[in-house]
Amino acid sequence: LARGVTEPDLAGRHVVISAGGTREPLDPVRFLGNRSSGKQGYALARTAAARGARVTLIAANTALPDPAGVDVVPVGTAVQLREAVLKAASEADAVVMAAAVADFRPATYAAGKIKKKDDQEPEPIVLIRNPDILAEISTDRPRPGQVVVGFAAETDDVLANGRTKLERKGCDLLVVNEVGERKTFGSEENEAVVLGADGSETPVPYGPKEALAETVWDLVTRRLR
Ligand code: CTP
Ligand code: CA
Repeated sequence: LARGVTEPDLAGRHVVISAGGTREPLDPVRFLGNRSSGKQGYALARTAAARGARVTLIAANTALPDPAGVDVVPVGTAVQLREAVLKAASEADAVVMAAAVADFRPATYAAGKIKKKDDQEPEPIVLIRNPDILAEISTDRPRPGQVVVGFAAETDDVLANGRTKLERKGCDLLVVNEVGERKTFGSEENEAVVLGADGSETPVPYGPKEALAETVWDLVTRRLR
């Protein structure tokens, strides 16, 4: 890493980070999920702790070791993630939504395992919308003046889509990744552009997720009151 000695520039600050991917259950054995590993969110948690922050990491279905000195709150679904983030955000200086949150969940949950029947085609799965946690936090700002950061993975028109998304969500910073073959999901490395609500664009070259995390904290630190 480029940083030699870590500056404790987040000392006295509380940051909340969501990581991983939500799972939306259909029945006791099945769920709708996504491919997020949680590595970027954990890198954000480690680097924030190294810079002196008190860190709450809301972890959705990750299989990674708890970072030292970090408060880890495990969650499953988007609704549980929302509750945990809102609870922690009321005392946070910054909230970073690195988790992949399911946009929809099954409208019904079957208390018993769904069985196949020889003489019948399967029922379609009806979906309903999940709450948009990033938009809610950005609008309500549980603590006045807090900095709110979102992540977006896009496949086409990455910057234009990112700019539109940042405005729609109302966050201060949006980290935009282009999703491709070797990029993002499960990998150790990442490449991104961080868009600011002030019109700024900070490119982060392909490299370790830690390096992107450090850039995010550099940009957050400048925006803290
Ligand atoms: N997010 C959230 N709650 C949701 C969905 C997304 O808080 N229900 C957050 C993610 O954690 C991420 C950001 O919003 O920080 C952008 O997620 P993304 O899926 O790219 O945005 P969407 O608004 O869901 O748009 P899309 O239709 O492209 O999925
Ligand atoms: Ca989405």
